[in-house]
Order: sequence, then structure tokens, then C-alpha cells
Amino acid sequence: MVIVAPSILSADFSRLGDEVSFLKGLPSVYLHIDVMDGHFVPNVSFGPLVFSSLRESVKQAFDVHLMLSDPRKHLKAIVDAGADIISIHEEIADDKLDLFNLIRSMGKKAGIVYKPDTDLTSLTSYLPYIDQVLIMSVSPGFSGQRFLENSLRKITYVRGLIRKERLENKILIEVDGGINMETAQRCIEAGADILVMGSALFSKPKSERLHLVKTLTNP
Ligand code: DX5
Ligand code: ZN
Repeated sequence: MVIVAPSILSADFSRLGDEVSFLKGLPSVYLHIDVMDGHFVPNVSFGPLVFSSLRESVKQAFDVHLMLSDPRKHLKAIVDAGADIISIHEEIADDKLDLFNLIRSMGKKAGIVYKPDTDLTSLTSYLPYIDQVLIMSVSPGFSGQRFLENSLRKITYVRGLIRKERLENKILIEVDGGINMETAQRCIEAGADILVMGSALFSKPKSERLHLVKTLTNP
């Protein structure tokens, strides 16, 4: 089963609720929420005050991607705003195992994110503590970038590791950056479960967005 996670970073913020209303009732959908601090990545996006405004109308899981140097400082606010899955970056200085435990102790799912140039050697030691692995297929910070081809090799590697450890259905593989209909297909073939889609989705009229999500989740 493929899950599509529309990234609101590419939505029109002046009418956010309306932008995501096409998701209503759709199965196999998460809402991908990019929180950036202008320090871990060069860009600043929005925080929990903004995405909490969608919590009442969007029933699907909030998949929150924290591009923060110090996510610990904001975890409670992120959870209170309605996050369901919280992913932190491998490249931060903080103790990742402790953060995964903290996220899970608050009843939420935990994920690890790898930037394109970060190797995946730490992943094996994280497996008992996580629910999701996010492979960045662009350099994090901005939507609308071109998909990096070596991400496919990384997805294949993670799929192999998950299979070997018999963790299928327990740990999902997500890919984020430059996903369109063509790259989506190749990521699915490589073993991805969750496809984040920003500009390729929100640049389309609403009726086409619905069709696109349905095509990917229900081939
Ligand atoms: C980038 C973000 C992505 C971004 C994806 O740092 O993590 O989620 O919104 O946008 P597209 O799909 O346009 O690459
Ligand atoms: Zn993201």
C-alpha cells in the first residue's frame, strides 16, 4: 500500500484550510508538515500555531518533519498542535535515541530523517526505536527542487534492511523531495511506502490533485 503525504510547504498559506480540503475522506494519505528554524536549514517555514489550525478539519495523520537544530525544545508544542508522526534529523547534535523514546512516551510515532549526503550506518541501531525512515531526495529547506537519483539506491538499501530484520509493516520508508508521477513510480519500485509531494501536487488545480493522489494510492 502506498501512502501519499501532500506537503503544505507548497500550498497557498493565505487559504491553507481550503488548499487541503480536497483530501477529505481520502484513505492512504498523511499531511506532511515541514517545520524549519532558519538554522538547521536556511529557510524558516511555520510552527505549531499555524498547523494546529488544520487539526480540526483534517482527519488524516499529521506527519511532521522537524528541520530544527533543537527539536527537543519544541516537542511538547508540536504534540499539542496535533502531530501524529514526528521525524527528527540524523544530523542534529542531540541524543536521538532519547528523543525517539520521548516522542513515543507522548504516544506518537517517531521517525529518523537522512539528508542526501548523510550515510545510513546509524540506522540499524535505531530500528527498535522508530516507526519511519525518511530519505531526503533533495537538500532540505525548499520545495520545487529536482529529485536526486542516488536516493533510489538508499531506498533499496533500507528496504533490504527492513526485510532482513523482519520489520515490514512496523517501519515505513518515506521519501521527500522532487516527487512527481515519474519519480514516484521509481521510488515505489525501489521500496518506498510514503511519498511526500509538494510542488508537483499543489501546482495543479484541485480536481487534478485529487486524481493524482487517487492514482498513486489506488493504482
Ligand atoms: C523540503 C521539504 C519537503 C518539500 C517537498 O525541505 O522537506 O517536504 O516540501 O517539496 P517538493 O515535493 O516540491 O520537492
Ligand atoms: Zn519534508
